[in-house]
Amino acid sequence: MAVKLVLFILLLAWLIKASSPTSSSMSKPECQDMCGNVVIPYPFGIGAGCYMDPFEVFCDESSLPHKPYIGSINLELLEVSLEGTVRVNNSVLSSNCQDKAPTADVSLSGSPFSFSDTRNWFTALGCGNLALIHSQDMVIGGCVSICNKTVKKRSCNGINCCQITIPPDLKFINATFIRISASQDHKECKVAFMVDKEWFQSSLIDRYRVLDYVPVVLEWGISDGTCIDWSQRNSTGGYSTDLCGTSAYCSNKIGIYYGCSCYEGYEGNPYLSCQGNSSAKLI
Ligand SMILES: *[C@@H]1O[C@H](CO)[C@@H](O)[C@H](O)[C@H]1NC(C)=O
Ligand SMILES: *[C@@H]1O[C@H](CO)[C@@H](O)[C@H](O)[C@H]1NC(C)=O
Ligand SMILES: *[C@@H]1O[C@H](CO)[C@@H](O)[C@H](O)[C@H]1NC(C)=O
Ligand SMILES: *[C@@H]1O[C@H](CO)[C@@H](O)[C@H](O)[C@H]1NC(C)=O
Ligand SMILES: *[C@@H]1O[C@H](CO)[C@@H](O)[C@H](O)[C@H]1NC(C)=O
Repeated sequence: MAVKLVLFILLLAWLIKASSPTSSSMSKPECQDMCGNVVIPYPFGIGAGCYMDPFEVFCDESSLPHKPYIGSINLELLEVSLEGTVRVNNSVLSSNCQDKAPTADVSLSGSPFSFSDTRNWFTALGCGNLALIHSQDMVIGGCVSICNKTVKKRSCNGINCCQITIPPDLKFINATFIRISASQDHKECKVAFMVDKEWFQSSLIDRYRVLDYVPVVLEWGISDGTCIDWSQRNSTGGYSTDLCGTSAYCSNKIGIYYGCSCYEGYEGNPYLSCQGNSSAKLI
């Protein structure tokens, strides 16, 4: 009995050890791999030597759970996907809201991040409004929400709430609100925001409650299409430093950005190293 138990524990320990290379290889060796509940895979990283520029993450340890922030854009990081997206916590744009602090406009210009056009909606809550989206000085879209206080549906289909898709590669948005029905209380609080479609559809948020922060999906990439580190020259003066890891290649995954992917049949972190899949390894 005792022997069986020891064998079982040994088997368990071996299984845990066998499965650990893929799970622990997401960050660089010796680097903090999580901040709070968020996994921080390379090229994102915390501390010197742990990230690829400009994907430095700061871990704010003053709150519980700890909160990671992407340094270059100063937004709270909720989730990283090595497929070329991150989910961040973004404040809503508001007008006439008494108890809300004016929100800082988010600008992604100069960073390798942009709002995902396929994964987000521009959403405006309000009654009898035309909400216009601006990017720099240009109006790039807008939507109208008709007022009807008796409708209490949670859907967002033009009554008290409207949604539209955004153009690709956007790095900045702001919103203005134009009142379209004279009878409405123009002092009403109005908000607009970019929001992760999936979150908006699945969450049971009260569409009429004014939110302060919503998750938004950004696309990211490491390069212009070569995945070569132009800051590193080799001994003969050429550039040979590939930013992708072993068994990985440079691919145009999402939007305008290039990133690394594991070759087929390999898995792991394509920015560090990809391994033949675990079934192959156990044989
Ligand atoms: C977003 O940030 C706000 C303000 O810091 C915070 O209250 C909220 O919990 C955050 N949301 C998520 C999903 O972390
Ligand atoms: C508001 O919606 C209710 C229910 O759909 C409808 O009966 C009513 O006519 C609408 N009111 C206006 C002003 O459109
Ligand atoms: C955003 O729009 C508001 C008005 O809706 C304006 O007051 C503010 O200055 C704009 N911010 C930027 C950075 O353009
Ligand atoms: C340096 O880079 C050039 C251009 O990519 C390459 O042809 C050459 O083999 C590299 N030399 C070394 C020593 O890596
Ligand atoms: C491992 O890779 C092989 C070849 O690409 C594939 O057929 C197999 O389904 C993979 N197994 C797992 C568990 O991913």
